[in-house]
Amino acid sequence: MTTKEKCEFLAQQNGAVGRNKRLGMEGITPLDNPRGGDDYYRLPEEICTSKYHPVCFPSMTNLGMSWNREAAEEVGRLMGKECKGREDVVRWLFRPGMNIKRSPLCGRNFEYISEDPVLTGQIAGHFIRGLQSEHVAACAKHYCVNHQECRRMTVNAVVSERALQEIYLKAFEEAFEVEKPWSVMTSYNKVNGSWVNSSRSLMNYLREDLQYDGVVVSDWAAVHDDKVAAHLCGMDVETAPSDCHSEILEKAVESGEIQPEVLDKSIERVERLIEKTKAAAFEEVDMEALHERSVDLAADSITLLKNRDHCLPLTLDENVLVVGQLAKRPVVMGYGSGGMNGYRIESPWECMWSGWKGKITFAQGYEQSETAPAEYRENEELIREALEAAEQADKIVVFSGYSYSHESEGRDRQDIELPKTHRDLLETMLSTGKPVVLVLTAGAAVDISQFADRLAAVLFAGYAGEGYGRAAADILKGGREPGGRLAETFPMNLEETPAYLSFAAEGEDYPNAYYGEDIFVGYRYYDKKKFDVLYPFGYGLSYTDFQYSVTDLSVSEGKIVSKVEVINIGKRKGSTVVQLYIGKKDSGVKRAVYELKAFSKVYLGAGECQTVTLTVPIHKLKIYSESQKKWILEKGTYQVYFGTSVRDLFAEKEVSIDSSDRVFIYSRMTPLFDFIRNPAFMRMIAAEAPGALPLLDQKTNPHLPLIWSLPIYRLSEPIAGPQIFTEEMIDQIVEFCNHSE
Ligand code: GLC
Repeated sequence: MTTKEKCEFLAQQNGAVGRNKRLGMEGITPLDNPRGGDDYYRLPEEICTSKYHPVCFPSMTNLGMSWNREAAEEVGRLMGKECKGREDVVRWLFRPGMNIKRSPLCGRNFEYISEDPVLTGQIAGHFIRGLQSEHVAACAKHYCVNHQECRRMTVNAVVSERALQEIYLKAFEEAFEVEKPWSVMTSYNKVNGSWVNSSRSLMNYLREDLQYDGVVVSDWAAVHDDKVAAHLCGMDVETAPSDCHSEILEKAVESGEIQPEVLDKSIERVERLIEKTKAAAFEEVDMEALHERSVDLAADSITLLKNRDHCLPLTLDENVLVVGQLAKRPVVMGYGSGGMNGYRIESPWECMWSGWKGKITFAQGYEQSETAPAEYRENEELIREALEAAEQADKIVVFSGYSYSHESEGRDRQDIELPKTHRDLLETMLSTGKPVVLVLTAGAAVDISQFADRLAAVLFAGYAGEGYGRAAADILKGGREPGGRLAETFPMNLEETPAYLSFAAEGEDYPNAYYGEDIFVGYRYYDKKKFDVLYPFGYGLSYTDFQYSVTDLSVSEGKIVSKVEVINIGKRKGSTVVQLYIGKKDSGVKRAVYELKAFSKVYLGAGECQTVTLTVPIHKLKIYSESQKKWILEKGTYQVYFGTSVRDLFAEKEVSIDSSDRVFIYSRMTPLFDFIRNPAFMRMIAAEAPGALPLLDQKTNPHLPLIWSLPIYRLSEPIAGPQIFTEEMIDQIVEFCNHSE
């Protein structure tokens, strides 16, 4: 290929990448979903022009709530089959989204998995494995620190290196340990002042730390004046409008600013991806079978958050009022490039009344536009109708939640409350004094704290895909189990969420968004602040009950291995998720109280018992030391917690971990303050230089606080009194402290 041809090969031209007509290379066309075309930006009521309508599986948020690695892998596999179920086979899918759910305000949260990097990485990695097992290339996105839609293409995320390493990049590392995607998409935003594409540190992390040699593509139109720098940093392909600045790259090669070998490396990666996907051949897809699986997968992710007096499941002879437009016109998926309209959407209502023996009625309750910006038209007439209908009912099931007018790609939420019309309806239904069940659909946590105590039951369904209607109806009627557990915290209010003070880079902050919460994202924040939450990370109920006991815990061959026996002591089958968290109460560094390190989902029939093994490699206990610019393992005692949520723990154990890593490195520039805090230092002074002791104790030297911020090397000078140490003593002290226990 000529230089011009190489540059065009590496630029998306009319949708395709890797194209060269002269050499007969048709390239490959990546899409955001198996249907592709422009339809995926269409809204439900718009007529889709595509002749191919693949099944809409549960969102990534719901796969997170399933805590089910196999489910994530299956959805990846089935989506891969759908990619091959059309004549023009889709061989490259720009999925999964896997950014951390930093704030419930983010409009694209439905495309993302969890507030925790381990759960995010496990689910994303298994989705990638499933999709690529069908020879369709996955694309882990958006790398990285992409957590808001407001000004997403120019915002600059200002984030600590430790939060980057332990939270935002950690999710990609976890996923890549399961399965490396054949491509990665960089994000729109800057991180710490650099566009990601041309950030030497972030691209080196990908290429060197994660040893990633797949194709790196930019997000659409995310390359600006840094095209050449991006290619020099390891970006392979620019995706964007037609020409993708290929002539800029050509000039840079001709001027010697970029070596042809850099392009050749990128071409080789693209060719490798194309080669791997050649095996993806057309095969008929049984859409009905996939639709049925979408129902099972939806149920496995829908989360029961409250069930007072076993209000659920409903009995078919009860008189029930079903209220809410969303019962008949459900929103089963978010909107934007992650959206899909689905093959066949069944509404909760049409699945509720079938087989019902009691009286079941419907009331609209509110009007909700799926597209127009949220307008709260007064719904007094609709609420009055619902109130009248409630007179005949024993129980009331309210379907409430968001739609595209509240959250979508390109649009963050304005708040996290239910729409006012829904709140008015709920208040009215609660005023009847009858048991009210809330079925909630949204892409992330919603503040329902004003209702939670008064509601009889709460189901959170996320955006569970086209199987949602039947799954929710079956769960309400007891035909299926609610299998979900929260993958994100439900807060008491927006003001107490970790990113509240800095989300969306509003006003004078712009273009910066300051990630002031640092490593304290999600439950890490609420636990550290000792905040109450409405429903904690990992929480969810079943229709049955389980008993748990830790039967073994050992440290061997670089791993912490535990066994937990789970017994279904209830009367019906069900599932639960055993979660393992690890913390260090006496840590010498800032830490979360404890963090998720392993989990296992268990499905058991009534009376059945199973022992699960939870394994944590010891290197997963490391923290990132900004001062040492590396990962370190703090030695000592760690607490190992076992629970069914981050706040529902059923066992606490301890393990002792040895390590030669130092949490703190002393130098001549280390303040005297940090030496005095080290008991070994004080013991050494008492033995070797007792005359200095009175000067190092506030009781005998009230001026000490005035000087203890001095770097230690200064103490060889007479400061605020006689000389404390000689110059040669300074180096001996530093050396001693860097080797003391
Ligand atoms: C969008 C999204 C990205 C998507 C791409 C191609 O702007 O940010 O996730 O894959 O463009 O549609």
